[in-house]
Amino acid sequence: MLCALLAAALTAVGAFAAEEESDRFVRKRVAAMFAAQAALDRLGDMSAGRRRFDAAIAREARRDLIALARAMPGLFRRQRVDAQSRALPRIWPQWRQFRDEARHAERAARDLNAGSLNRLRQGLPAVVNACLDCHRSFRRPP
Ligand code: HEC
Repeated sequence: MLCALLAAALTAVGAFAAEEESDRFVRKRVAAMFAAQAALDRLGDMSAGRRRFDAAIAREARRDLIALARAMPGLFRRQRVDAQSRALPRIWPQWRQFRDEARHAERAARDLNAGSLNRLRQGLPAVVNACLDCHRSFRRPP
């Protein structure tokens, strides 16, 4: 399941990768991030009423987020940065904190109840905050 997600996301970041040959480890972890963004966007659109709530789609997006957050430490295990990467080098000396941020995101996704729109609205901010917390510490701002 995760492989399919990553393959789809890799296609989506083709444009990103084409600009300049980027490291394949970097490409793979960025693809996972874009897949997480896509799942979060689906939930965010439902939550904001831009898209009709659909419990099956919401549950699938939740499952994707859990799987992707779980995969994050593994995807960053190799210390790689290239010209296009926005990963801060402090990830590796501060590995434990980085891993905890990923666990935090996984927990927030698990705690999400995707069975109703109200529950989704309650749980979504924690997921968004978990993404932002890690980005604040470990990703170079745009
Ligand atoms: C454990 C830390 C961590 C968590 C949790 C995390 N990210 Fe990231 N994210 C990063 C890092 C580091 C990068 C930069 C990777 C690179 O460029 O090599 C990144 C990059 C991205 C990118 C690529 C484009 C960009 O802005 O750099 C997107 C999109 C993204 N993250 C979305 C998300 C979403 C959505 C979530 C929550 C569901 C999330 N991330 C959770 C660390 C994290």
